[in-house]
Order: sequence, then C-alpha cells, then structure tokens
Amino acid sequence: MVILSPSALLADGQPEPSSSLSALENLVMQDCGSCHGMTLKGGLGPALRPENLSHLPEKAIAAIIREGIPGTAMPPWKPLLAPVDIEWISHQLKTGELVSP
Ligand code: HEC
Repeated sequence: MVILSPSALLADGQPEPSSSLSALENLVMQDCGSCHGMTLKGGLGPALRPENLSHLPEKAIAAIIREGIPGTAMPPWKPLLAPVDIEWISHQLKTGELVSP
C-alpha cells in the first residue's frame, strides 16, 4: 500500500515532482540517456519509449528505477531521487512526454 501525501498529486492524479521540472528533465535525458540513449532509443540499456514499455505498468517502471535491476548495469536511483520524482519520471516515460516522436 503506497501512501502519497496529497501535495504530491496534482488534481488529475499526475505525480508532481519535488525537484524542479527542468532539472528532472535534464537528469532523464543526461543520466538515464547516458545508458538508454540521449533520445531514449536504447544504448547500453534498452529503449525507454512508450512503445518499448508497454509490457510494464507505471508502478513496475517506478520500482525498477527505485531499486535498479540487480546483476545488471541498471543502478538503483532511490539514494538520488525522491519517490515523487521517480513517479514523475515513470509517468513521463509511459506517456513519452519527454521524448519527441
Ligand atoms: C549505468 C547505465 C544505466 C543508467 C545510468 C540507467 N539505466 Fe536503466 N537500465 C540499464 C540496463 C543495462 C538495463 C537492462 C537491464 C537488464 O538486462 O534487464 C536497464 C533497464 C531499465 C528499465 C527496464 C526496461 C525494460 O524494458 O525492462 C527501465 C524502466 C530503466 N532502465 C529506466 C531507467 C531510468 C529512468 C534511468 C534514469 C533515472 C536509468 N534507467 C538509468 C542501464 C542503465
């Protein structure tokens, strides 16, 4: 059971990041992009575009970002990112809002 503070959610239920938006966008494009490709089309790690993530629900993506994938190069991000930030990134990856088609 995940308990979110009300301030962590916008009216439409979309997670609102605690860090500034542009800082988080940069992190996804730079840090995640260093392995997953600058346009998230894949590199060392798999592509992270919506069409590549259809097998994963948003919550599963958040869990992967939080804990990493043991035994692979995918690191855990929970030391660096607040839970709401991780939810925000998962939502953006699912909707593809950070990457142009
Ligand atoms: C040091 C390299 C590296 C960095 C940095 C990295 N990843 Fe990964 N990521 C990987 C690798 C490698 C895999 C595939 C692991 C495997 O073999 O299952 C992966 C897998 C994933 C998956 C699962 C994809 C799928 O289809 O199963 C997601 C989601 C993901 N990463 C998100 C992120 C996000 C978001 C960030 C930035 C916050 C990030 N990664 C940063 C290397 C990285």
